[in-house]
Amino acid sequence: MSARKTTQRKTTRRRETTGEPRLPGDLGRDALVARMIRVDQAGEYGARRIYEGQLAVLGNGPSGETIRHMHEQELRHLETFDALLAERRVRPTALQPLWHVAGFALGAATALMGERAAMACTVAVEEVIDDHYARQAEQLGGDEAALKETIEEFRATEAEHRDIGLEHEAELTPGYPVLTGLIKAGSRAAIWLSERI
Ligand SMILES: [Fe+2]
Ligand SMILES: [Fe+2]
Repeated sequence: MSARKTTQRKTTRRRETTGEPRLPGDLGRDALVARMIRVDQAGEYGARRIYEGQLAVLGNGPSGETIRHMHEQELRHLETFDALLAERRVRPTALQPLWHVAGFALGAATALMGERAAMACTVAVEEVIDDHYARQAEQLGGDEAALKETIEEFRATEAEHRDIGLEHEAELTPGYPVLTGLIKAGSRAAIWLSERI
């Protein structure tokens, strides 16, 4: 079995040391990795809550099974980052209570607009996460091979979720560009905050 069959879109160079080359003012290696684990745990937590909000509204609808499947996968992502937080003694984000409420609210609100809007929410969030994980994988070196592999694996799942959203006619949502633009901006803000707070 080939050990490394992960997508290599942006990670063409083999980086030996995480975070190198480093410019003045850039984070040191440990701080960079801690920040990554903090924001990823926060993101997977938020993803779990978004799908829970969607399930509260659409759980018994025609896309209920699909949403439950994605929720299951987010639970596994979250478990992994929960374990990494503990293992590396990284402080979790202080904003978790906010993501608890905001994630659920976003999932439920879009679900109330209909199945397509819920899928548009998934597309928007997962596109941001896909970029986010690609950027992280690019910064990680051979000294963090296991973490890098985890992130690349999760990134592939998030891209699947985005594709599922597209297959479920997300783009036919009225006001799709505005809705997804807002959700993407919100998701990027959540990432920025969770890295720092
Ligand atoms: Fe995830
Ligand atoms: Fe996802």
